[in-house]
Amino acid sequence: MNAFQGLILAAGHGTRMRSDTVKVLHPIMGRPMLSLVIDAVQEAGVPRPVVVVGHQADQVRDTIGDTVDYVYQEEQRGTGHAVSIAADALRGYENVLILNGDTPMVTARMLARLMRDHRWSGAAATVLTAVVEDPTGLGRVVCNDEGELVNIVEESDASHAEADIREINTGMACFSVEALLDTLPALRPDNAQGEYYLPDAFSVLLERGEQVRIARAGDPEAVIGVNTRRELAGATEVFRLRILDDLMSRGVTIMDPGTTWIHPEVEIQADTVIHPFTTIEGNSRVGSHCSIGPMTHLVDVHVRDEASIWYSVARDSRVGERVTVGPFSHLRPGTDLESGAKVGNFAEVKSSRVGEGSKIPHHSYVGDADVGAGVNMGAGAITVNYDGRDKHRTVLEDGSFIGCNSNLIAPISVGRGAFVAAGSTISSDVPADSLALARKRQRNREGWALRRRKKWEEERGDDDE
Ligand code: UD1
Ligand code: CA
Repeated sequence: MNAFQGLILAAGHGTRMRSDTVKVLHPIMGRPMLSLVIDAVQEAGVPRPVVVVGHQADQVRDTIGDTVDYVYQEEQRGTGHAVSIAADALRGYENVLILNGDTPMVTARMLARLMRDHRWSGAAATVLTAVVEDPTGLGRVVCNDEGELVNIVEESDASHAEADIREINTGMACFSVEALLDTLPALRPDNAQGEYYLPDAFSVLLERGEQVRIARAGDPEAVIGVNTRRELAGATEVFRLRILDDLMSRGVTIMDPGTTWIHPEVEIQADTVIHPFTTIEGNSRVGSHCSIGPMTHLVDVHVRDEASIWYSVARDSRVGERVTVGPFSHLRPGTDLESGAKVGNFAEVKSSRVGEGSKIPHHSYVGDADVGAGVNMGAGAITVNYDGRDKHRTVLEDGSFIGCNSNLIAPISVGRGAFVAAGSTISSDVPADSLALARKRQRNREGWALRRRKKWEEERGDDDE
């Protein structure tokens, strides 16, 4: 007999969020709330928990995928009702861990400990409680003089004295499956909300002489429930600081934890410094001894050791060792900067490889280009990659030099070591080691400016008389 099954209740819409999207799919740092709960349950040792879905069930299934099983609760008649819908999925297990899909900060450690306590005590049920500053909206834990559980009272059913209790039900509990299934038929919706409350199962068990134990959560932040946008922001803050704390313990310097957002999947190596107002998202990886920020936003970017990126935005790009980017650069998808390259002030790069040590220091656009090693793009030089219908590629071979304000009309290639004169509009390939000059020859008219100035002075003099 398998020891533990997991059951996650996620059928409600979450009306208090005032959203078109069902509550458990609201993301926290890029991860839907429900998937954070599932992760914790799986990591705690329950490989394939059951999720009770109802509102937007298809969206929930599509988003979460098939690492869990689902049961469908058509009408949401309370948490006790949700559990009874899942009864068949629990048979064959000795115990079940039940929790809500809206407590996203729960940790695997906390759940593993709850399950261990429950199994060792042999109680019919073990409920996880927490003592919190503000118990508003939560079920209050009513105990007798011996500190033993009597029952759990929802806020809408609580007397004044009960409402003052600061020990709350976290919604996380373990039950013996047999005891639970025996108890569910006894639940009655005779309360303010007219719902079948799962917490009523505890008092039913106690009345029947069964043992129900309390386990107290050491970290109240890990059990916060999200019912409103305000609570969503609160949970996000807990998660954000938890991630930064972990990075700091691994040797990453976070200059200003108050303004730094690093998503959970991001990996950063030791001795890298993250400066203020920086966000790193998605599948991003940053090597060691890098400097990222201030004011930098990276999404799906791989950064190698000793690179530096400041005041810049990058997405789906690769940044090699010792590369420098910024200030005010934009790396768009498909950018691959090889070691020692430099992308500077107000430069934009897209779908391009930039070879070792090449420089795009100022005001350039490099799109759909294959730039070799040791290439220099002068200020304002750009690739003309789009003809209004199709995109075309530009090839700049090793050691070529593109003068300031040149237009490279793609498809085009500039050979090894070639030199494009500043201000040229290049529309045919440039052979290696040659000079391409594509601009009007300059004419100087000696004395022209002087003659004009004198004429203006005369005109002004006429007016004065
Ligand atoms: C619940 C507990 C409360 C506890 C709190 C902790 C009950 C009656 N109350 O209150 O004691 O302090 O959690 O956060 O259990 N759901 C279903 N089907 C339903 C009803 C709810 O799947 O028919 C799901 C919801 O989607 C949600 C979870 O159960 O994920 C909890 O429901 P919610 O309405 O948020 O309960 P709370 O009022 O927060
Ligand atoms: Ca809730």
